[in-house]
Amino acid sequence: MLVSAEDMLTKAKAGKYAVGQFNINNLEWTKAILLTAQELNSPVILGVSEGAGKYMCGYKTVVGMVTAMLEELNITVPVALHLDHGSYEGAKACIEAGFSSIMFDGSHYPIEENVEKTKELVAICKEKGLSIEAEVGSIGGEEDGVIGAGECADPDECKMIADLGITMLAAGIGNIHGKYPDNWAGLSFETLDAIQQKTGTMPLVLHGGTGIPADMIKKAISLGVSKINVNTECQLSFQEATRKYIEAGKDLEGKGFDPRKLLAPGTEAIKQTVKEKMELFGSVGKA
Ligand code: 13P
Repeated sequence: MLVSAEDMLTKAKAGKYAVGQFNINNLEWTKAILLTAQELNSPVILGVSEGAGKYMCGYKTVVGMVTAMLEELNITVPVALHLDHGSYEGAKACIEAGFSSIMFDGSHYPIEENVEKTKELVAICKEKGLSIEAEVGSIGGEEDGVIGAGECADPDECKMIADLGITMLAAGIGNIHGKYPDNWAGLSFETLDAIQQKTGTMPLVLHGGTGIPADMIKKAISLGVSKINVNTECQLSFQEATRKYIEAGKDLEGKGFDPRKLLAPGTEAIKQTVKEKMELFGSVGKA
């Protein structure tokens, strides 16, 4: 059964570790992440962007696939199915479809509008027992065609949104989606510290987990980050392993063209990446 992310994140914040959100794209992705979480006895959040939801034939298809997989694979660790960077309409559609957690990303609206829309969705999520993530200060980089500038959030605005009764807060601290450029200035721990001081026990979310050095991840966790989103890194691991398989001509040997064989190295590579992240984030054994 899918669960809200509230309990796992409250425990993570108190225990000074973080739960990984790994974005899914298809059956292989989902299976790799769930099996790794179970093997490591770690809670996990499956992230679905609106684009990935569309790609997987809609939110209902995603809910059907994930809930059936939990049962068929005997997954007993806590799993939340979470909409990543949802629009107001997308959030409502996911609530309707059976997601256990949503993110409403109103960071591109003026703060008053972000507050209003977040407030409405908080009321719906509270009634249904779902967790809800809100965002202040847009995350840089490109995701699903949306380009964010990578701002540092205003701690007072963070407090304003946190006080609406959300479950977790994503705040821009110089992080960006995708690979970090060579001249990246790094995370702003000063901003993160100020945000945590204003928001207290609220679990904070670090987006753009791909390519953030281990020491920065650890420091972010020590300053209140309890959920870390990883997407691109699994895509890169999958791509690299698949490329190797084809470049080695394995798809041309025997039944190497069978998708179950062709996609196996990439799926194993996703498992390895998820494992490394769970170990780094400290969520192993915390289910
Ligand atoms: P990356 O693709 O940089 O890992 O970011 C993932 C993310 O933040 C999803 O919201």
